[in-house]
Amino acid sequence: MTPNSPTLTVMVQAARKAARALTRDFGEVENLQVSVKGPGDFVSSADLRAEETIREELTRARPGYGFLLEEGGEVKGSDPTHRWIVDPLDGTTNFLHGIPMFAINIALERNGEIVAGLTYNPITDELFLAEKGKGAFLNDRRLRVAARSDLTQAVVCTGIPHIGGKNHGRFSKEIAAVMPQVAGVRRTGSCALDMAFVAAGRFDAYWEWELNAWDLAAGVILIREAGGFVTDMNNGSDILGKGSVLAANERLHRPLYDVLRKSATA
Ligand code: IPD
Ligand code: CA
Ligand code: CA
Repeated sequence: MTPNSPTLTVMVQAARKAARALTRDFGEVENLQVSVKGPGDFVSSADLRAEETIREELTRARPGYGFLLEEGGEVKGSDPTHRWIVDPLDGTTNFLHGIPMFAINIALERNGEIVAGLTYNPITDELFLAEKGKGAFLNDRRLRVAARSDLTQAVVCTGIPHIGGKNHGRFSKEIAAVMPQVAGVRRTGSCALDMAFVAAGRFDAYWEWELNAWDLAAGVILIREAGGFVTDMNNGSDILGKGSVLAANERLHRPLYDVLRKSATA
């Protein structure tokens, strides 16, 4: 059964409330106001409304906690030990194209450590939850990362830089090195779902650069609590700070890391 802690309850309530409006907006996507934050980087009235709802709900339940919000930035709370990290809509490009692969991402940081995470796809009604020491869950089912230890059998996932990205060349080298070694490569367009799918054993591994803390925070604890291994792309532990991720089970992580690292010198 899903762990039923007060923290997770608060997070689930906030996500479900924001999800109701997101689902409505998704059904009428052509009516949304969309602005461009940068090349290939969009924000819509749906992102902003969802973030506002999540912020209101979390503040009502935990008035002192601070925030790191994708759209609203850093908000200091009176309690310096706790901070919510929120991406109200991860997979905005999918959302705006009518592709039902996007998620709400909420994590709780305590003294600099992620202690709870939620990823919710309102269209499939898949709710991924994890809390430190209590395991990771999809709806009511306990999650475990995949057990495959052979790269040749692995389905791996990554993110592809778009028009605003800085490292198209690096991606081309990485994909050239990885694709002949694995059973399949996928790209969903939502870092949050990519990480949740690693936790659920659907993807054997995932790597991506140029991400932000709100893309990654919930997924880090989902994967760890599902028994997986997560680092930044330098094989270090500063995932949120570096904004990069390499996640897999413990046996696949090193071989994939080696392939990716070697691709840099190819
Ligand atoms: C994006 C998604 C995507 C990743 C991008 C992110 P957004 O987040 O997670 O999968 O490749 O780098 O920016 O903009 O949809 O919240
Ligand atoms: Ca995001
Ligand atoms: Ca977003």
